[in-house]
Order: sequence, then structure tokens, then C-alpha cells
Amino acid sequence: MVTMVVNGQRHTVEVEPDTPLLYVLRDELGLHAAKYGCGLGQCGACTVMVDGQAVFSCVTPVLLMQGREVTTLEGLGTAEAPGPMQRAFIEEQAAQCGFCIPGMMMRAQALLARNPRATDDEIRAQLQSNLCRCGTHARILRAVRRAAGLMQTAEA
Ligand code: FES
Repeated sequence: MVTMVVNGQRHTVEVEPDTPLLYVLRDELGLHAAKYGCGLGQCGACTVMVDGQAVFSCVTPVLLMQGREVTTLEGLGTAEAPGPMQRAFIEEQAAQCGFCIPGMMMRAQALLARNPRATDDEIRAQLQSNLCRCGTHARILRAVRRAAGLMQTAEA
């Protein structure tokens, strides 16, 4: 049994301890934003935040989540009330197929939480571990920049 807080809600799951966090999120908790891409920690499609850090949930055993706080894209806002990161990606039309986008947003969210004024180089460096096969990198970069601006405006 593993108890963790996911998007602000406490959950206890009973699964094999080495079950990847990604499987638990998708199959046990019905949170489908994080995607299965490579399953090897190489593409970033499964990225979520654990205690504010971006992690590959496909290679993270759920056992390690005992008492931790997990945030998925569903935790950043809703379709009716999108959060700043989600709004920015919509406004910049940053998605093409969209498969990589939840992971991109979670890694960018973790970056901006610790470095709200990240430079373009810092954003690029941070997102290197998240692959986009459609090639919308320029729009993704603009979206993260816009998200940073929206977050700063919200805080002002
Ligand atoms: Fe986890 Fe590719 S699915 S890094």
C-alpha cells in the first residue's frame, strides 16, 4: 500500500511496489495527461512533478511516492479554468500532435517554480530531456516565456 497526495488529494493504492508511477496515475487514478512514450526515461512524455521536481513517471517505482506530493497536468487547471501554463500553451498554439505537451508543461512548470525569470537558454536546457517529434520547439519556447509572464502578472 502506498499513500501519496496527487493534485492535492490523498490517495492510497494497493499495487506491486515496483509498479511505475505512470501506470498508477493512468490505470488506478484515471489521470491520463501523463503519456507513455518510450517507457525508458528517454522521451519525457510521462513527466510529472514530485515535490516540485520534474520526474519521469515511467521509471519511478510507486513505492518511492510514499508520503510525497505528485502533480500532474490535471493539477495545473481545468478546461474551464486553465492555469497560466496551460493558457500560455493554448495562446501560443504550441501543440501539434500534442503527445509531448503534458510532459513539456510539467517540466516547464517545475522550472518556473524555482526560476520564475528563466532565460531562453535555461528553458531550452531544461526542456532538452523532453522530445517533440512534430518540431514545434519554437512555439513551445514562446509558450513557456508567455507562461512566465502570466505567472508574474498573477503574482503582482
Ligand atoms: Fe517516460 Fe518516455 S515514457 S521518458
